[in-house]
Amino acid sequence: MNPVVKKKKALVVGCGSIGQRHARLLGMREDVCLSVCDPIETNLINTCRQTKVDKRFKDYRKALEECPEFVFICTPESLHAAIAIAALESGVHVFCEKPLADNLSSAGKIIDAVTKSNKLFAVGYVLRYTKAYRTIKSLLDKKIIGNVVGGQVSLGAYETLINAKTDCYLNQPWSLILTYTHEIDYLRWFLGPVSRTVGMHAKLGEVEKKVDPNVVGCVLQFDTGAIITLYMDYIQSPGQRSIMLIGDKGKIFYSTMENLVVVYKDKAEPFKTIDVAEERDNSFIEEHNQFFRASKNQINSIVDANDAFETLKTAYSLIDSLK
Ligand SMILES: NC(=O)c1ccc[n+]([C@@H]2O[C@H](COP(=O)([O-])OP(=O)(O)OC[C@H]3O[C@@H](n4cnc5c(N)ncnc54)[C@H](O)[C@@H]3O)[C@@H](O)[C@H]2O)c1
Repeated sequence: MNPVVKKKKALVVGCGSIGQRHARLLGMREDVCLSVCDPIETNLINTCRQTKVDKRFKDYRKALEECPEFVFICTPESLHAAIAIAALESGVHVFCEKPLADNLSSAGKIIDAVTKSNKLFAVGYVLRYTKAYRTIKSLLDKKIIGNVVGGQVSLGAYETLINAKTDCYLNQPWSLILTYTHEIDYLRWFLGPVSRTVGMHAKLGEVEKKVDPNVVGCVLQFDTGAIITLYMDYIQSPGQRSIMLIGDKGKIFYSTMENLVVVYKDKAEPFKTIDVAEERDNSFIEEHNQFFRASKNQINSIVDANDAFETLKTAYSLIDSLK
């Protein structure tokens, strides 16, 4: 006979594009009893169609009264602070989608609430759980390309605007940069703190959904001195990510188009080629596993509130330079 698994009470707040993915994967777990919350009935119905849901709510305050142990905040970023603070004050472990908040003042209030609570707080920078980004991090840590001096990274993601269940990205000022703090997060993870940012922005292209800006190009300098150019747009469809990092002993290339991490050393042929293809769900499942493990062992989350705050500060220093 299978041993009885004690179910954790989890609540997903915000059942839009990413909330439905979190809910689907959490609802499939044997060790989770899932509730969901969204003010839009269709989003609740679509979520419940995809996975096993115990209870559903339209108001997160009512949902928190049912005493979940874990809350997953998947609403637009302008609501992260209010929901995160309410959840922490009710004694719940919080997983909050990135970015930490839509502005530094709200993010500071989350930090204060996390400090006052003794609850776990994790932020959903999911690229850190992917095979591709873990592989690159491990190669950098092993100094396979020596010390990084510079590089180029890019991101294109028009589908983000198409897949969203609300107009949150169209309404959020600087949404391209705030949404793709993913790129700032992984660069800080790879290379350490950022010391300077400069950039340019534009609203371009014949596209139906057009935010201002929808094209950003910038340069980040790290405390190590390394200089990275970062290009982002809400134009490319299908979207893509690419990375080229240059060290004093070689280069690393990665693109989501090929799903290969390729290392070059002192020859024209690759020194190493690593296949990093995987199902998109894998990194989210790993993110959930790590969050639950962290709550049990009382260890820090991989990306905690302070770490995500530093990423948001870098994003706002870039936004200030664009203004
Ligand atoms: N980690 C990732 O890869 C990833 C991917 C996409 C989005 N995100 C982040 O997740 C968040 C949501 O993005 P999305 O693309 O799913 O947006 P979305 O517009 O598709 O979904 C937002 C959902 O929140 C709901 N909502 C609004 N107000 C609410 C409230 N008061 N209570 C409960 N629900 C409420 C909306 O009805 C909608 O269903 C954003 O912060 C975004 O940056 C992260």
